[in-house]
Amino acid sequence: MRADIARIMRGMIDYNSPDTARINHALKVHGFARLIGLSERVSETELFTVEACGLLHDIGIHEAERKHGSNSGKYQEIEGPPIAGKMLAASGIPMEERTADRIKFIIGNHHSYKKIDGKDFQILVEADFLVNIFEDGMKRPAIEAIRESIFKTAAGKSLLETMYLKNGV
Ligand SMILES: [Fe+2]
Repeated sequence: MRADIARIMRGMIDYNSPDTARINHALKVHGFARLIGLSERVSETELFTVEACGLLHDIGIHEAERKHGSNSGKYQEIEGPPIAGKMLAASGIPMEERTADRIKFIIGNHHSYKKIDGKDFQILVEADFLVNIFEDGMKRPAIEAIRESIFKTAAGKSLLETMYLKNGV
């Protein structure tokens, strides 16, 4: 793992402590985002973007609950980007402004599937579903509907199939 991603990972764990469920969720989404990114041979910058988004995509949850009394997607999307921006700045990781902006854009829209406008965004959404299907105990008809409406990358579709849709699973 790259040292800069390790720093963001540690920052996410510290920020979410002691909420172990959310720490684990972010680590799992990061793992799938990295796997899909590597399988799809995205650029270095895109890989950094999908890994950072995997770790930070839900970073607005606590602030949404504190400020709005709700962890709904809408409030997470509002609260997440400024927190992620501060964490990226505090990490001291050198990155182009447009990379930080892209990470914040994906975090701020990651429940708005109609806004998916690039492979990095697509990969983050697929990785989040691969984790949420398990965490939310979704059933086969819902999973099949998600496969048709959301999944696009070959690696993401293959993981979805292998983990949730193979016969007998
Ligand atoms: Fe998530």
